[in-house]
Amino acid sequence: MSDIDLDSIMRACADPGDRYARLLNPRFYKLLRALGFDRTFIRGEGPWLFDESGERYLDAIAGYAAITIGRNHPVLINALHQALDSGLPSLVQFEANPLAGVLAERLLECTGRENDRVYFTNSGTEGVEAALKFARASTARNRIIHCSRGFHGLTLGALSINGNPGLREGFGPLLEDVTEIPFRDAAALASALQEQPAAAFVIESVQGKTLEVAEDQYLREVSDLCRRSGTLLVADEVQSGLGRTGAILGTDHAGIRPDIVVLSKALSGGMVPVGAVIARGEIIDDVFESMSRSHVHSSTFKENVLAMVAGIASLHVLREERLEQRAQELGTLLRERLEAVAAATGCIKAVRGRGLMLGIELDVERMAGSIKLPFIGRHRSTLVAQAVVRHLLNEHHVLALSTSAESATIKFTPSLVIEPEQVEQLASAVHRTLERLDGTTLGADIHGLAGMTRGILSP
Ligand SMILES: Cc1ncc(COP(=O)(O)O)c(C=O)c1O
Repeated sequence: MSDIDLDSIMRACADPGDRYARLLNPRFYKLLRALGFDRTFIRGEGPWLFDESGERYLDAIAGYAAITIGRNHPVLINALHQALDSGLPSLVQFEANPLAGVLAERLLECTGRENDRVYFTNSGTEGVEAALKFARASTARNRIIHCSRGFHGLTLGALSINGNPGLREGFGPLLEDVTEIPFRDAAALASALQEQPAAAFVIESVQGKTLEVAEDQYLREVSDLCRRSGTLLVADEVQSGLGRTGAILGTDHAGIRPDIVVLSKALSGGMVPVGAVIARGEIIDDVFESMSRSHVHSSTFKENVLAMVAGIASLHVLREERLEQRAQELGTLLRERLEAVAAATGCIKAVRGRGLMLGIELDVERMAGSIKLPFIGRHRSTLVAQAVVRHLLNEHHVLALSTSAESATIKFTPSLVIEPEQVEQLASAVHRTLERLDGTTLGADIHGLAGMTRGILSP
């Protein structure tokens, strides 16, 4: 039997965009082209991506913040090679999976929750779905409370508690008995709970879309309110968890102990999808309450060998390299540098976030004076942010993300293995992009993008 030859498959991808647009998602490809992201990266190493001509790019998207340990970390690669060479059987299903036990033990030890239990998933949104079901089963209540502008994934349950109406539009009826309250408003939670207690209050310690931080005092208050009303506090740490904010869990900063914690992204090492729901033992017992119901929630690929090994290797690197400490130190440095750019250019309204989960909100009104913005109606903020992202990519080889349709927010979540000089490089790229708006190509970028996207976005 002949092998497949990955090198020649990649070499034969002469026009990957064309195939992608024909066979997958033409509109997404159109967007990629408009933004200049229609390039092919053929290698990743640490915080870097390399394109076909060997050009190096600083990746501050890092797989939507999943790649905390850097791309292709040698410990992870070695562990995965060992797993593949071992002949271990994956998906036996009816077994007490030994690697799942080891990963659960290490995860609970790492998060300081040794008395809890773990349920493994294949993604963040699947973890959120599990958390919603677990909370309902455990409390025998239906109601879920969540925060405006929060993000918890895009499957129907997670979408029901999504704080961005645009993402819900067009997908029909979602979960009933869901209440949205403003983020960072403990009084709103108190009055919602007074009206009627809930199964769960779901919260991000740093909102991934807005980069708004839930202050420690607020988190302590909501934790208290939940405890008093028997509502389970669900911390969605899919993005903020495992080091990114400068602590193992984002909620650790506040010293609280949520009833359920959802993790994913960083646990994968950026290689094999894996997620975990950590919950108090009683909650797990309530869900899997009898032998006949011992697998009422499950999925085929959970606990697969490669995912478990990726998780074990990622946690090992997190601990050995003290990545949460790096996120704290380098996040402080990046924040300082971005604040200096804000002061020097006047184009940044706010620098937000925690650790290496940071964002800048552009002052579009102020920029509009220098650039003479084209008429782009309600999409103005998005377009300006996207033009800055495009400029960062094309002129400075920095990948960043524009996160919100409502504000011109640009987000930086590089891997936690970056060095101080890469922090300087990132801040300097932002500075050079925003300084002297007149006379730089940013103005041209905005006008070019407006022209290209007029057909896609209606004002
Ligand atoms: C806080 C949060 N929760 C849930 C999710 C969904 O995770 P996934 O994309 O793995 O389904 C994300 C993804 O960005 C996230 O940031």
